[in-house]
Amino acid sequence: MSGRPTYYVTTPIYYVNGEPHIGHAYTTIAADVLARFKRLEGCDVYFLTGTDEHGQKIARMAESQGKTPQEYVDGIVSSFKEMWQKLSISYDDFIRTTEERHKKVVQEVFQRLMEQGDIYLGNYEGWYCTPCESFWPEGQLNEGMCPDCNRPVEWVREESYFFRLSKYQQPLLDFFAENPEFLQPESRRHEMLNFIKSGLEDLCVSRTTFTWGVPVPKAPGHVVYVWLDALINYISALGVFSSDQELYEKFWPCDVHLVGKEIVRFHTVIWPAVLMALGLPLPKKVFGHGWWTVEGEKMSKSRGNVIDPGEIAAKYSADAVRYFLLREVPFGADGDFSHSAFVARVNSELANDLGNLLNRATAMINKFQKGMVLPPAEPTEHDEYLKTECIEGAKAVKAAMDKLAFHQALEQIWRGIDAANKYIENTAPWSLAKEGSGKLSTVLYNLAESLRIAAVLLVPFLPTLPGKIWEQLGLTIPLEEQTYKDACTWGLFPAETKINRGEPIFPRIEEEEDETEVDAAPIEEAKLPENLISIEDFAKVDLRVGQIVAAEKVEGADRLLCLKVDLGSGQRQIVAGIAKYYKPEELVGKLVVVVANLKPAKLRGIVSEGMLLAASTDNKKQLTLLTVDSSMPAGSKIS
Ligand code: MSP
Repeated sequence: MSGRPTYYVTTPIYYVNGEPHIGHAYTTIAADVLARFKRLEGCDVYFLTGTDEHGQKIARMAESQGKTPQEYVDGIVSSFKEMWQKLSISYDDFIRTTEERHKKVVQEVFQRLMEQGDIYLGNYEGWYCTPCESFWPEGQLNEGMCPDCNRPVEWVREESYFFRLSKYQQPLLDFFAENPEFLQPESRRHEMLNFIKSGLEDLCVSRTTFTWGVPVPKAPGHVVYVWLDALINYISALGVFSSDQELYEKFWPCDVHLVGKEIVRFHTVIWPAVLMALGLPLPKKVFGHGWWTVEGEKMSKSRGNVIDPGEIAAKYSADAVRYFLLREVPFGADGDFSHSAFVARVNSELANDLGNLLNRATAMINKFQKGMVLPPAEPTEHDEYLKTECIEGAKAVKAAMDKLAFHQALEQIWRGIDAANKYIENTAPWSLAKEGSGKLSTVLYNLAESLRIAAVLLVPFLPTLPGKIWEQLGLTIPLEEQTYKDACTWGLFPAETKINRGEPIFPRIEEEEDETEVDAAPIEEAKLPENLISIEDFAKVDLRVGQIVAAEKVEGADRLLCLKVDLGSGQRQIVAGIAKYYKPEELVGKLVVVVANLKPAKLRGIVSEGMLLAASTDNKKQLTLLTVDSSMPAGSKIS
């Protein structure tokens, strides 16, 4: 047995009533990134995903296609597996609820609970939503429709088995109170606590209206309720109750179940109650993530806007899809997948910030040092800043990952990348080369070092770019052997390394004919007003989205504020005459429009490296900075 800490992460098992889409990919990518991060940290990881294949919905789907349920599910399961391959998902096991190893455990659980009286035979009648496989109390119906999917419900009456969920109301409340971290994010915890407090009814856990399910032991005609069947996958995959329980003993209770917000209830009420009844330990954490819309609309087959993540991955790379989904919105929040936001973000962050950094660094190492990374010689005044941003950023990645704040983890990795881009501007290696300065080898070494750190930290997120960075940096120690600790340690880049400069690792996405392009047909010049400029004149102005990260008053100048503005590729100091209109603290976080190619000027002795656009009345009584909506990342070009 290894002494490494274990880590068990799961995705929901997906319904096979349709092809996999971006919603399924989202949970699975998040789980994969977490699994890979924990492996990087040195944990012994078990990552489980799979498919939920029983139920009336699936039987009907198969029938509509003239297939047996088994034939039908086998087909869809291959699509899921292919999708996970396209997205580089590194699962350790893929459980299917139609597998013998699973069905045996479901029957064992049912049997045990029946024997101890936690499952009993009763009668059920109520409003049932077939697509959601759920019964709904009359009071929860939405004008006679299912409150979840808004489709008609049917009145169903059947002899059924019931699980004594009501008995576990108080134990569940106690468990929530003792384990404040169990359900995250916090808002979902409140929602669930209210749900439990409002009273739990016993749960109907068998069906007689269809046969496509796990048969209830010794009860012909009854099949196990699909949700009870499905939840058990998390332990059946580990071989619980079998002669070989090694995996179960090693990995249960699981560290985290990742689920979408709409299925939190099943995972934090029913599942823990079943485990309590079985006398098994409860999962350490359930995280309910948000939902994606597409171009502002709910994703649905009928709207025809279902996004196929495999297609985007094939067109733009799995790195881009994975990066966008995890960087765009905090994991607990809802998000919108828009093509323009996708292109803007990956162009700005993967092509510019990361790709260009590698490109510039390797170009300079080639040009100034014949392709060799040399040991650092004379220090520069900017080294400490670069080192701090890289190492502090790297160290903060763990805390962010432990909170499942994937977007923050990426932000922390970008601290180092942004600092390295800025370091190039601040140290101007081309001038150092001209002067024959001893600082040159230090600067180029430090750039290679910050890229090494970024590559290791990005391993969990991006399947191919870290390997390409590694290859171009000429590193021969296998990337797979790198650890999180290596990424938190400065100075491990082996000096005297010969790099292999190559093609840009992430070329910008340039696409779709711009329909607004000007038609070159001449217009009679004489009729035009004199103050017009050409489109070329306008294009000389480099307008960018900037995010204000700091603002303070300029001493001795009532009108001026000194701002630090993040332009994606680095920070700028901009002095602006807006002190009468804004308090410094109001400005921090704002996304503003910056003239990014203005010659630097000094105002009251302070260098200003750009200008912000603002609208003002003629008498200057009112002034408002132009701002941009929050979906645009800093650095986006305005044209
Ligand atoms: N079979 C059940 C889970 C059983 S787990 C014991 C199920 N399957 S599902 O295929 O309908 O959905 C699985 C996951 O996909 C959920 O976590 C759900 O939140 C996620 N998503 C489906 N559509 C989604 C979006 N549009 N956006 C984000 N995730 C969504 O539920």
